Amino acid sequence: MAAQSPDLARIIARLAADMAHEPQRGRVADYIPALARADADRFGIAVLTADGQMHVGGDADHGFSIQSISKVFTLTMALNRIGARLWQRVGREPSGSAFNSIVQLEHEQGLPRNPFINAGAIVVSDVILAGQTAAAATAEILDYLRMLAGDPAIAIDAEVAASEAETGHRNAALASYIKSCGRLDHAVADVLQVYFGQCAITMSCRQLARAGHYLMAGGRGPHGEVLVPPDRARRINALMLTCGHYDGSGEFAYRVGIPGKSGVGGGILAVVPGRASIAVWSPGLNARGSSMIGSLALERLAEAMGWSVF
Ligand code: DON
Repeated sequence: MAAQSPDLARIIARLAADMAHEPQRGRVADYIPALARADADRFGIAVLTADGQMHVGGDADHGFSIQSISKVFTLTMALNRIGARLWQRVGREPSGSAFNSIVQLEHEQGLPRNPFINAGAIVVSDVILAGQTAAAATAEILDYLRMLAGDPAIAIDAEVAASEAETGHRNAALASYIKSCGRLDHAVADVLQVYFGQCAITMSCRQLARAGHYLMAGGRGPHGEVLVPPDRARRINALMLTCGHYDGSGEFAYRVGIPGKSGVGGGILAVVPGRASIAVWSPGLNARGSSMIGSLALERLAEAMGWSVF
């Protein structure tokens, strides 16, 4: 493993230089002003290898809105809390629909297809809310990420959280529909507060790559501590591979071949089981809401390192 590191450092430096000049950068999310202000020319990458080495390139320390990448961590928290009972409330199949699609819910009695589409993440928020206020649940999510990344400075961007709430009519519709099917235990407003709060967390590539350590290391954190059982880490990775990019999950698996989870802030957390936890960021998105340059960088990195799981 140690022998691969010099190559990796060179590949990452090269990738960062190449990505700066890629002409096709996608479209920055513009549904809220704070995301619309992001600079599509930015690109960051952080790769934490199983031997504990961190390699970074570009804007690896620039904070961005993690958005739907938070769904990986809230899924982990919900599984830690109620285990396999979670699967009575949310499915494990790819949706083949947009991340905020509402159509399947009506055909499927308000049971979301998977925990990574918005509907599924809203149910996961409801699970985390149990026994506490929305503010406490949001603080618990933030604390969990601070612990995973080993950085107490990680915070929620209040402007992003407020804008999410102001403009989140589609999410409100999803939550209300699920509630109408008797599948939310808490008030829609409280569930949405938790969901919007988790989407508004700001992190850098370096912090995200650290937070993803347990997914590449069979559930163990950077100091060997058991964070989740190995089978749980394996299964979260399986869901990231099959559902992590919504209706673009097949394309990502085909091109990159590793578990990944995207967010509309332009970040992607990707995992090479047993080898690396990777975070990339570039704000321009493809039509499916995943970072265009981030996906390309992961494709080239996986190819250069032979990291596809297939
Ligand atoms: O709920 C939403 O629609 C956004 N706050 C987050 C969506 C997101 O990141 C989907 N990802 N690609």
